[in-house]
Amino acid sequence: MVDLKIVDAIIEKWNTDPDFVIEMMQDVQDEFRYIPKVALERIADRTEKPRGKLFHIATFYNAFSLEQRGETEIQVCMGTACYVKGAADVLAALERALGISRGETTPDGKFTLTEVRCVGACGLAPVVTIGDEVIGGVKSNEVPSIIKRFS
Ligand code: FES
Repeated sequence: MVDLKIVDAIIEKWNTDPDFVIEMMQDVQDEFRYIPKVALERIADRTEKPRGKLFHIATFYNAFSLEQRGETEIQVCMGTACYVKGAADVLAALERALGISRGETTPDGKFTLTEVRCVGACGLAPVVTIGDEVIGGVKSNEVPSIIKRFS
């Protein structure tokens, strides 16, 4: 259940100014780790911005998510350097270990698994990032112990 009082406080922090809807969305994203639909509609209605425009912004920018995210994001680099070094196997191992598919969040809300393009650490391929940590040279058989470390 989304507490709209929190959303209202964010909107008011930005003086309900329609020029600051992106900042409001950023604050909502930080607060809930995603942008709930009701929050987006609240921002649109109170700033008198078209709802469709805010949905467009929310889907256009990668920083925003309309789906609930886990506490920790696990990103598997599927850029070329990582791909040729077995990133697909690592991703499959993560899907098995977490019991979810890419793009999904574990039912306990702990992890969200996504794939990304080059994270700029090709020399360490294949690369997985977990939260702020960059892990290089990941082997698929190491995945269960890596997950355990972050659980
Ligand atoms: S391709 Fe994976 S870090 Fe560059």
